[in-house]
Amino acid sequence: MTARNGQPAGGPFRKKPLMQLVGECTARNALRRVLTPWELLFLGIGSTVGAGIFVVTGVAAGNYAGPAVVLSFVISGIVALFAAMCYVELASMVPCAGSAYVYAYAGIGEICAWIIGWDLILEYAFSISAVAVGWSGYVATLFAGAGFPLPAAFSNAYGVSGGIVNLPAILIIMAITILLTFGVRGSALINNIIVIFKIAVILLFLFLAAGHIDAANYTPFMPYGWGGILTGASIVFFAYIGFDAVTTAAEETANPRRNIPIGIIGSCVIVMVLYIAVAATLTGIVPYTALHNNNAPISSALSAIGIPWGAALVSAGAIAGLTSVLIVTLFGQTRIFYAMAQDGLLPRVFSAVHPVYRTPLLVTLITGSATAVIAGLLPLDIIVELVNVGTLSAFFIVAITVVILRRTDPDAPRTFRTPLVPFVPLLCMLFCLGLIAVLPAITLLRFVVWLAVGLVIYFLYGYRHSVLGGAPAG
Ligand code: ALA
Repeated sequence: MTARNGQPAGGPFRKKPLMQLVGECTARNALRRVLTPWELLFLGIGSTVGAGIFVVTGVAAGNYAGPAVVLSFVISGIVALFAAMCYVELASMVPCAGSAYVYAYAGIGEICAWIIGWDLILEYAFSISAVAVGWSGYVATLFAGAGFPLPAAFSNAYGVSGGIVNLPAILIIMAITILLTFGVRGSALINNIIVIFKIAVILLFLFLAAGHIDAANYTPFMPYGWGGILTGASIVFFAYIGFDAVTTAAEETANPRRNIPIGIIGSCVIVMVLYIAVAATLTGIVPYTALHNNNAPISSALSAIGIPWGAALVSAGAIAGLTSVLIVTLFGQTRIFYAMAQDGLLPRVFSAVHPVYRTPLLVTLITGSATAVIAGLLPLDIIVELVNVGTLSAFFIVAITVVILRRTDPDAPRTFRTPLVPFVPLLCMLFCLGLIAVLPAITLLRFVVWLAVGLVIYFLYGYRHSVLGGAPAG
Protein backbone atom coordinates (compact mmCIF):
# COMPACT_ATOMS: atom_id res chain seq x y z
CA MET A 1 0.00 0.00 0.00
CA THR A 2 1.22 3.53 -0.66
CA ALA A 3 0.70 6.97 0.82
CA ARG A 4 -1.44 9.37 -1.16
CA ASN A 5 -1.27 13.15 -0.62
CA GLY A 6 0.70 12.54 2.55
CA GLN A 7 -2.20 10.50 3.98
CA PRO A 8 -1.72 6.82 4.82
CA ALA A 9 -3.74 4.63 2.43
CA GLY A 10 -6.07 1.84 3.56
CA GLY A 11 -7.40 3.47 6.73
CA PRO A 12 -7.13 2.00 10.21
CA PHE A 13 -8.30 -1.44 8.98
CA ARG A 14 -5.40 -1.94 6.57
CA LYS A 15 -3.95 -5.46 6.90
CA LYS A 16 -0.42 -6.71 6.57
CA PRO A 17 -0.38 -9.46 3.91
CA LEU A 18 0.58 -12.72 5.61
CA MET A 19 3.42 -13.54 3.24
CA GLN A 20 4.93 -10.05 3.63
CA LEU A 21 4.87 -10.50 7.40
CA VAL A 22 6.57 -13.88 7.33
CA GLY A 23 9.16 -12.59 4.83
CA GLU A 24 9.92 -9.53 6.97
CA CYS A 25 10.71 -11.42 10.12
CA THR A 26 12.50 -14.28 8.43
CA ALA A 27 14.80 -11.77 6.72
CA ARG A 28 15.31 -9.73 9.85
CA ASN A 29 18.53 -10.79 11.50
CA ALA A 30 18.99 -8.23 14.21
CA LEU A 31 18.11 -10.59 17.07
CA ARG A 32 19.99 -13.85 17.55
CA ARG A 33 18.34 -17.26 16.92
CA VAL A 34 19.63 -19.25 19.87
CA LEU A 35 16.73 -20.72 21.88
CA THR A 36 16.12 -24.51 21.82
CA PRO A 37 12.78 -26.36 22.46
CA TRP A 38 13.82 -27.18 26.03
CA GLU A 39 14.67 -23.55 26.69
CA LEU A 40 11.27 -22.56 25.29
CA LEU A 41 9.51 -25.08 27.52
CA PHE A 42 11.41 -23.66 30.46
CA LEU A 43 10.64 -20.13 29.24
CA GLY A 44 6.92 -21.02 29.22
CA ILE A 45 6.99 -22.57 32.71
CA GLY A 46 9.30 -19.83 33.94
CA SER A 47 6.89 -17.10 32.90
CA THR A 48 3.79 -18.90 34.15
CA VAL A 49 4.36 -20.50 37.56
CA GLY A 50 4.59 -17.55 39.93
CA ALA A 51 2.37 -15.29 42.02
CA GLY A 52 -0.74 -17.07 40.72
CA ILE A 53 -0.04 -20.38 42.42
CA PHE A 54 2.13 -19.08 45.27
CA VAL A 55 -0.08 -16.12 46.29
CA VAL A 56 -3.42 -15.88 44.47
CA THR A 57 -4.52 -19.52 45.17
CA GLY A 58 -5.03 -18.70 48.83
CA VAL A 59 -7.11 -15.60 48.08
CA ALA A 60 -9.29 -17.51 45.59
CA ALA A 61 -9.84 -20.49 47.92
CA GLY A 62 -10.28 -18.50 51.13
CA ASN A 63 -12.33 -15.59 49.77
CA TYR A 64 -14.28 -17.01 46.80
CA ALA A 65 -14.35 -20.70 45.94
CA GLY A 66 -13.47 -22.74 49.06
CA PRO A 67 -12.08 -26.25 48.37
CA ALA A 68 -13.80 -26.06 44.97
CA VAL A 69 -10.95 -23.72 43.93
CA VAL A 70 -9.67 -26.87 42.24
CA LEU A 71 -12.63 -26.50 39.82
CA SER A 72 -11.71 -22.83 39.32
CA PHE A 73 -8.27 -24.03 38.22
CA VAL A 74 -9.81 -26.60 35.88
CA ILE A 75 -12.11 -23.99 34.26
CA SER A 76 -9.46 -21.31 33.78
CA GLY A 77 -7.00 -24.02 32.68
CA ILE A 78 -9.38 -25.09 29.91
CA VAL A 79 -9.66 -21.46 28.74
CA ALA A 80 -5.87 -21.19 28.77
CA LEU A 81 -5.48 -24.47 26.87
CA PHE A 82 -7.96 -23.42 24.16
CA ALA A 83 -6.16 -20.09 23.86
CA ALA A 84 -2.81 -21.91 23.76
CA MET A 85 -3.95 -24.00 20.79
CA CYS A 86 -5.07 -20.86 18.93
CA TYR A 87 -1.78 -19.13 19.75
CA VAL A 88 0.20 -22.08 18.48
CA GLU A 89 -1.58 -22.21 15.13
CA LEU A 90 -0.84 -18.52 14.59
CA ALA A 91 2.71 -18.75 15.88
CA SER A 92 3.42 -21.68 13.57
CA MET A 93 2.21 -19.57 10.62
CA VAL A 94 3.86 -16.29 11.66
CA PRO A 95 7.03 -16.98 13.66
CA CYS A 96 7.70 -13.31 14.47
CA ALA A 97 8.49 -11.40 17.67
CA GLY A 98 5.40 -9.53 18.86
CA SER A 99 3.00 -12.37 19.60
CA ALA A 100 -0.75 -11.79 19.24
CA TYR A 101 -0.14 -8.24 18.05
CA VAL A 102 1.48 -9.51 14.87
CA TYR A 103 -1.25 -12.09 14.19
CA ALA A 104 -4.01 -9.49 14.51
CA TYR A 105 -2.13 -7.28 12.02
CA ALA A 106 -2.42 -10.01 9.41
CA GLY A 107 -5.86 -11.30 10.36
CA ILE A 108 -8.04 -8.31 11.25
CA GLY A 109 -6.18 -5.08 10.49
CA GLU A 110 -3.94 -2.40 11.94
CA ILE A 111 -6.34 -0.87 14.44
CA CYS A 112 -7.04 -4.30 16.00
CA ALA A 113 -3.32 -5.00 16.05
CA TRP A 114 -2.85 -1.73 17.90
CA ILE A 115 -5.62 -2.54 20.38
CA ILE A 116 -4.15 -5.96 21.06
CA GLY A 117 -0.65 -4.51 21.43
CA TRP A 118 -2.10 -2.00 23.88
CA ASP A 119 -3.85 -4.88 25.76
CA LEU A 120 -0.61 -6.82 25.84
CA ILE A 121 1.05 -3.87 27.56
CA LEU A 122 -1.62 -4.21 30.23
CA GLU A 123 -0.89 -7.94 30.41
CA TYR A 124 2.90 -7.80 30.43
CA ALA A 125 3.89 -4.50 31.98
CA PHE A 126 1.28 -4.69 34.73
CA SER A 127 1.99 -8.32 35.53
CA ILE A 128 5.68 -7.49 35.88
CA SER A 129 4.57 -4.98 38.49
CA ALA A 130 2.14 -7.44 40.14
CA VAL A 131 4.71 -10.18 40.40
CA ALA A 132 7.30 -7.76 41.78
CA VAL A 133 4.82 -6.80 44.49
CA GLY A 134 4.27 -10.52 45.26
CA TRP A 135 8.06 -11.00 45.34
CA SER A 136 8.40 -8.16 47.79
CA GLY A 137 5.71 -9.75 50.01
CA TYR A 138 7.56 -13.08 50.20
CA VAL A 139 10.87 -11.35 50.87
CA ALA A 140 9.26 -9.34 53.66
CA THR A 141 7.83 -12.58 55.14
CA LEU A 142 11.23 -14.25 54.99
CA PHE A 143 12.97 -11.29 56.68
CA ALA A 144 10.27 -11.09 59.34
CA GLY A 145 10.63 -14.85 60.00
CA ALA A 146 14.37 -14.37 60.51
CA GLY A 147 13.72 -11.61 63.07
CA PHE A 148 14.52 -8.63 60.82
CA PRO A 149 11.16 -7.17 59.77
CA LEU A 150 11.38 -4.67 56.89
CA PRO A 151 9.94 -1.20 57.66
CA ALA A 152 6.27 -1.21 56.52
CA ALA A 153 6.59 2.27 55.01
CA PHE A 154 9.19 1.07 52.49
CA SER A 155 7.86 -2.40 51.68
CA ASN A 156 4.23 -1.59 50.78
CA ALA A 157 2.49 0.54 48.16
CA TYR A 158 1.23 3.97 49.19
CA GLY A 159 -1.84 3.60 51.43
CA VAL A 160 -1.41 -0.17 51.98
CA SER A 161 -0.54 -1.23 55.58
CA GLY A 162 1.13 2.11 56.31
CA GLY A 163 3.22 1.99 53.14
CA ILE A 164 4.78 4.88 51.22
CA VAL A 165 6.67 3.05 48.49
CA ASN A 166 7.45 -0.61 47.78
CA LEU A 167 11.24 -0.50 47.56
CA PRO A 168 11.99 -4.27 47.24
CA ALA A 169 9.60 -4.43 44.26
CA ILE A 170 11.45 -1.56 42.59
CA LEU A 171 14.87 -3.06 43.31
CA ILE A 172 14.08 -6.51 41.87
CA ILE A 173 12.77 -4.98 38.63
CA MET A 174 15.92 -2.87 38.34
CA ALA A 175 18.13 -5.95 38.85
CA ILE A 176 16.31 -7.92 36.15
CA THR A 177 16.39 -4.99 33.75
CA ILE A 178 20.17 -4.92 34.05
CA LEU A 179 20.36 -8.71 33.52
CA LEU A 180 18.28 -8.53 30.33
CA THR A 181 20.32 -5.77 28.78
CA PHE A 182 23.28 -8.16 28.60
CA GLY A 183 21.57 -10.61 26.26
CA VAL A 184 19.21 -13.54 25.97
CA ARG A 185 21.52 -16.53 26.40
CA GLY A 186 22.69 -15.70 29.91
CA SER A 187 19.14 -14.88 30.96
CA ALA A 188 17.85 -18.20 29.59
CA LEU A 189 20.46 -20.12 31.60
CA ILE A 190 19.50 -18.38 34.85
CA ASN A 191 15.85 -18.95 34.00
CA ASN A 192 16.44 -22.70 33.53
CA ILE A 193 18.10 -23.05 36.93
CA ILE A 194 15.28 -21.17 38.65
CA VAL A 195 12.57 -23.18 36.90
CA ILE A 196 14.11 -26.46 38.06
CA PHE A 197 14.22 -25.12 41.63
CA LYS A 198 10.63 -23.93 41.70
CA ILE A 199 9.23 -27.13 40.18
CA ALA A 200 11.26 -29.12 42.74
CA VAL A 201 9.79 -27.02 45.54
CA ILE A 202 6.22 -27.56 44.30
CA LEU A 203 6.81 -31.32 44.05
CA LEU A 204 8.29 -31.27 47.55
CA PHE A 205 5.15 -29.53 48.82
CA LEU A 206 2.94 -32.19 47.19
CA PHE A 207 5.09 -34.96 48.67
CA LEU A 208 5.21 -33.52 52.21
CA ALA A 209 1.53 -32.62 52.27
CA ALA A 210 0.08 -35.79 50.71
CA GLY A 211 0.09 -37.74 53.98
CA HIS A 212 -1.70 -34.91 55.85
CA ILE A 213 -4.81 -34.64 53.68
CA ASP A 214 -7.95 -34.78 55.82
CA ALA A 215 -11.15 -35.48 53.89
CA ALA A 216 -13.08 -33.37 56.42
CA ASN A 217 -11.43 -30.24 54.95
CA TYR A 218 -13.27 -30.86 51.67
CA THR A 219 -16.65 -30.35 53.37
CA PRO A 220 -18.40 -28.12 52.46
CA PHE A 221 -16.83 -28.43 49.01
CA MET A 222 -18.60 -25.47 47.39
CA PRO A 223 -19.30 -23.01 50.25
CA TYR A 224 -19.97 -20.12 47.83
CA GLY A 225 -21.65 -22.16 45.06
CA TRP A 226 -20.92 -21.92 41.34
CA GLY A 227 -20.80 -18.11 41.52
CA GLY A 228 -17.80 -18.39 43.84
CA ILE A 229 -16.15 -20.99 41.62
CA LEU A 230 -16.47 -18.76 38.53
CA THR A 231 -15.21 -15.64 40.31
CA GLY A 232 -12.40 -17.84 41.61
CA ALA A 233 -11.68 -18.92 38.02
CA SER A 234 -11.50 -15.31 36.81
CA ILE A 235 -8.95 -14.59 39.55
CA VAL A 236 -6.78 -17.72 39.37
CA PHE A 237 -6.68 -17.20 35.62
CA PHE A 238 -3.72 -14.99 36.51
CA ALA A 239 -1.79 -18.17 37.33
CA TYR A 240 -1.98 -19.37 33.70
CA ILE A 241 -0.84 -16.13 32.11
CA GLY A 242 2.64 -16.34 30.70
CA PHE A 243 2.85 -19.29 28.28
CA ASP A 244 2.16 -16.84 25.47
CA ALA A 245 5.46 -15.14 26.27
CA VAL A 246 7.06 -18.04 24.38
CA THR A 247 5.69 -16.56 21.14
CA THR A 248 7.43 -13.28 21.82
CA ALA A 249 10.74 -15.16 21.54
CA ALA A 250 9.90 -16.48 18.07
CA GLU A 251 12.66 -14.51 16.36
CA GLU A 252 15.24 -15.74 18.82
CA THR A 253 14.28 -19.39 18.39
CA ALA A 254 15.93 -22.04 16.28
CA ASN A 255 13.33 -23.73 13.97
CA PRO A 256 10.39 -21.74 15.43
CA ARG A 257 7.66 -23.53 13.46
CA ARG A 258 8.44 -26.76 15.30
CA ASN A 259 9.75 -25.47 18.62
CA ILE A 260 7.17 -22.79 19.47
CA PRO A 261 4.26 -25.33 19.54
CA ILE A 262 6.30 -27.62 21.82
CA GLY A 263 7.08 -24.71 24.16
CA ILE A 264 3.53 -23.39 24.44
CA ILE A 265 1.34 -26.51 24.59
CA GLY A 266 3.93 -28.34 26.69
CA SER A 267 4.23 -25.63 29.32
CA CYS A 268 0.48 -25.05 29.44
CA VAL A 269 -0.28 -28.74 30.10
CA ILE A 270 2.50 -29.10 32.69
CA VAL A 271 1.40 -26.07 34.73
CA MET A 272 -2.27 -27.13 34.56
CA VAL A 273 -1.44 -30.52 36.10
CA LEU A 274 0.76 -28.90 38.78
CA TYR A 275 -1.86 -26.27 39.71
CA ILE A 276 -4.71 -28.75 40.01
CA ALA A 277 -2.55 -30.99 42.20
CA VAL A 278 -1.45 -28.07 44.41
CA ALA A 279 -4.99 -26.67 44.78
CA ALA A 280 -6.44 -30.09 45.68
CA THR A 281 -3.65 -30.78 48.18
CA LEU A 282 -3.63 -27.33 49.77
CA THR A 283 -7.36 -27.35 50.48
CA GLY A 284 -7.02 -30.91 51.80
CA ILE A 285 -4.42 -30.13 54.48
CA VAL A 286 -5.96 -26.96 55.99
CA PRO A 287 -9.56 -25.71 56.23
CA TYR A 288 -10.25 -23.20 53.43
CA THR A 289 -11.09 -20.58 56.07
CA ALA A 290 -7.40 -20.60 57.11
CA LEU A 291 -6.54 -19.34 53.60
CA HIS A 292 -8.66 -16.19 53.85
CA ASN A 293 -6.50 -13.17 52.85
CA ASN A 294 -3.37 -15.29 53.29
CA ASN A 295 -0.50 -13.96 51.15
CA ALA A 296 1.78 -16.97 51.57
CA PRO A 297 -0.80 -19.83 51.57
CA ILE A 298 1.45 -22.73 50.58
CA SER A 299 4.21 -22.11 53.07
CA SER A 300 1.80 -21.22 55.89
CA ALA A 301 -0.14 -24.45 55.24
CA LEU A 302 3.11 -26.40 55.66
CA SER A 303 3.82 -24.55 58.92
CA ALA A 304 0.28 -25.33 60.07
CA ILE A 305 0.82 -29.07 59.64
CA GLY A 306 4.11 -28.86 61.55
CA ILE A 307 6.74 -28.80 58.79
CA PRO A 308 8.47 -25.39 59.26
CA TRP A 309 11.61 -26.34 57.29
CA GLY A 310 9.36 -27.22 54.33
CA ALA A 311 7.65 -23.85 54.72
CA ALA A 312 11.01 -22.03 54.55
CA LEU A 313 12.05 -23.99 51.47
CA VAL A 314 8.74 -23.24 49.76
CA SER A 315 9.20 -19.53 50.50
CA ALA A 316 12.64 -19.63 48.90
CA GLY A 317 11.16 -21.47 45.90
CA ALA A 318 8.39 -18.90 45.62
CA ILE A 319 10.91 -16.05 45.57
CA ALA A 320 12.91 -17.86 42.88
CA GLY A 321 9.73 -18.63 40.93
CA LEU A 322 8.54 -15.07 40.99
CA THR A 323 11.99 -13.96 39.82
CA SER A 324 11.82 -16.13 36.71
CA VAL A 325 8.31 -14.86 35.89
CA LEU A 326 9.76 -11.37 36.05
CA ILE A 327 12.64 -12.25 33.71
CA VAL A 328 10.43 -13.75 31.00
CA THR A 329 7.68 -11.18 31.23
CA LEU A 330 10.04 -8.21 31.02
CA PHE A 331 11.71 -9.93 28.07
CA GLY A 332 8.31 -10.42 26.38
CA GLN A 333 7.22 -6.82 26.86
CA THR A 334 10.35 -5.42 25.23
CA ARG A 335 9.83 -7.72 22.20
CA ILE A 336 6.23 -6.53 21.77
CA PHE A 337 7.38 -2.90 21.85
CA TYR A 338 10.10 -3.88 19.36
CA ALA A 339 7.55 -5.27 16.89
CA MET A 340 5.21 -2.29 17.25
CA ALA A 341 8.04 0.19 16.72
CA GLN A 342 9.28 -1.68 13.64
CA ASP A 343 5.82 -1.11 12.16
CA GLY A 344 5.94 2.61 12.98
CA LEU A 345 3.06 2.42 15.49
CA LEU A 346 5.44 3.42 18.29
CA PRO A 347 8.50 5.70 18.05
CA ARG A 348 11.63 4.08 16.59
CA VAL A 349 13.58 4.25 19.83
CA PHE A 350 11.47 1.27 20.96
CA SER A 351 13.14 -0.98 18.37
CA ALA A 352 16.76 0.21 18.55
CA VAL A 353 19.10 -2.79 18.99
CA HIS A 354 22.39 -2.33 20.88
CA PRO A 355 25.35 -3.02 18.54
CA VAL A 356 27.34 -5.09 21.06
CA TYR A 357 24.75 -6.89 23.21
CA ARG A 358 22.30 -7.32 20.28
CA THR A 359 19.38 -6.63 22.63
CA PRO A 360 16.81 -3.81 22.50
CA LEU A 361 18.65 -2.05 25.31
CA LEU A 362 16.88 1.29 25.41
CA VAL A 363 13.37 -0.16 25.44
CA THR A 364 14.42 -2.62 28.14
CA LEU A 365 15.48 0.31 30.30
CA ILE A 366 12.26 2.23 29.56
CA THR A 367 10.08 -0.81 30.37
CA GLY A 368 12.03 -1.55 33.53
CA SER A 369 11.67 2.02 34.79
CA ALA A 370 7.94 2.28 34.00
CA THR A 371 7.05 -1.06 35.62
CA ALA A 372 9.19 -0.25 38.64
CA VAL A 373 7.15 2.92 39.20
CA ILE A 374 3.82 1.01 38.94
CA ALA A 375 5.11 -1.73 41.27
CA GLY A 376 6.36 0.83 43.78
CA LEU A 377 3.08 2.70 43.98
CA LEU A 378 0.03 0.50 43.18
CA PRO A 379 -1.55 -2.24 45.37
CA LEU A 380 -1.56 -5.87 44.14
CA ASP A 381 -5.30 -6.48 43.70
CA ILE A 382 -5.82 -3.57 41.31
CA ILE A 383 -2.84 -4.62 39.19
CA VAL A 384 -3.87 -8.32 39.02
CA GLU A 385 -7.44 -7.57 37.88
CA LEU A 386 -6.19 -5.23 35.16
CA VAL A 387 -3.74 -7.88 33.97
CA ASN A 388 -6.57 -10.44 33.75
CA VAL A 389 -8.95 -8.25 31.76
CA GLY A 390 -6.13 -7.23 29.37
CA THR A 391 -5.07 -10.83 28.81
CA LEU A 392 -8.60 -12.22 28.39
CA SER A 393 -9.29 -9.63 25.69
CA ALA A 394 -5.99 -10.47 23.98
CA PHE A 395 -6.94 -14.19 24.03
CA PHE A 396 -10.36 -13.29 22.59
CA ILE A 397 -8.75 -11.51 19.63
CA VAL A 398 -6.27 -14.35 19.10
CA ALA A 399 -9.16 -16.86 18.88
CA ILE A 400 -11.11 -14.75 16.38
CA THR A 401 -7.95 -14.25 14.30
CA VAL A 402 -7.61 -18.04 13.90
CA VAL A 403 -11.12 -18.23 12.44
CA ILE A 404 -10.56 -15.25 10.12
CA LEU A 405 -7.18 -16.46 8.80
CA ARG A 406 -8.62 -19.92 8.08
CA ARG A 407 -11.00 -18.12 5.68
CA THR A 408 -8.68 -15.46 4.22
CA ASP A 409 -5.49 -17.56 3.98
CA PRO A 410 -6.68 -21.19 3.96
CA ASP A 411 -3.58 -22.47 2.16
CA ALA A 412 -0.88 -20.73 4.22
CA PRO A 413 1.47 -23.33 5.79
CA ARG A 414 0.42 -24.26 9.33
CA THR A 415 2.62 -26.73 11.20
CA PHE A 416 -0.01 -26.88 13.94
CA ARG A 417 -3.76 -26.72 13.35
CA THR A 418 -6.16 -25.88 16.19
CA PRO A 419 -8.56 -28.86 16.39
CA LEU A 420 -12.29 -28.50 15.64
CA VAL A 421 -12.20 -24.95 14.18
CA PRO A 422 -14.42 -22.94 14.56
CA PHE A 423 -15.71 -24.64 17.76
CA VAL A 424 -12.52 -24.43 19.85
CA PRO A 425 -11.86 -20.74 19.03
CA LEU A 426 -15.55 -19.89 19.55
CA LEU A 427 -15.60 -21.67 22.92
CA CYS A 428 -12.39 -19.86 23.84
CA MET A 429 -14.03 -16.51 22.99
CA LEU A 430 -17.15 -17.40 24.96
CA PHE A 431 -15.15 -18.46 28.02
CA CYS A 432 -13.01 -15.30 27.86
CA LEU A 433 -16.14 -13.12 27.76
CA GLY A 434 -17.61 -15.12 30.66
CA LEU A 435 -14.51 -14.60 32.82
CA ILE A 436 -14.37 -10.89 31.92
CA ALA A 437 -18.04 -10.55 32.91
CA VAL A 438 -17.45 -11.79 36.46
CA LEU A 439 -14.60 -9.34 37.13
CA PRO A 440 -15.51 -6.30 39.28
CA ALA A 441 -17.25 -3.42 37.43
CA ILE A 442 -14.52 -0.94 38.43
CA THR A 443 -11.94 -3.10 36.65
CA LEU A 444 -14.03 -3.08 33.48
CA LEU A 445 -14.33 0.71 33.72
CA ARG A 446 -10.56 1.10 34.13
CA PHE A 447 -10.11 -1.16 31.12
CA VAL A 448 -12.43 0.97 28.97
CA VAL A 449 -10.46 4.09 29.96
CA TRP A 450 -7.21 2.27 29.08
CA LEU A 451 -8.58 1.37 25.64
CA ALA A 452 -9.80 4.93 25.02
CA VAL A 453 -6.36 6.36 25.85
CA GLY A 454 -4.81 3.78 23.50
CA LEU A 455 -7.09 4.76 20.63
CA VAL A 456 -6.27 8.45 21.08
CA ILE A 457 -2.53 7.61 20.90
CA TYR A 458 -3.12 5.47 17.82
CA PHE A 459 -4.90 8.22 15.89
CA LEU A 460 -2.48 10.93 17.02
CA TYR A 461 0.71 8.91 16.38
CA GLY A 462 0.50 5.34 15.03
CA TYR A 463 -1.99 5.98 12.24
CA ARG A 464 0.23 8.69 10.76
CA HIS A 465 3.59 6.95 11.25
CA SER A 466 2.52 3.44 10.19
CA VAL A 467 4.98 1.88 7.75
CA LEU A 468 2.09 -0.06 6.20
CA GLY A 469 0.28 3.25 5.71
CA GLY A 470 3.20 4.61 3.68
CA ALA A 471 5.46 6.24 6.28
CA PRO A 472 9.16 5.51 5.70
CA ALA A 473 10.54 2.42 7.49
CA GLY A 474 13.09 3.15 10.21
N1 ALA B 1 1.19 -16.53 35.76
C1 ALA B 1 2.06 -15.57 36.33
C2 ALA B 1 2.09 -15.70 37.80
O1 ALA B 1 1.34 -16.47 38.33
C3 ALA B 1 1.73 -14.19 35.89
O2 ALA B 1 2.86 -15.04 38.45
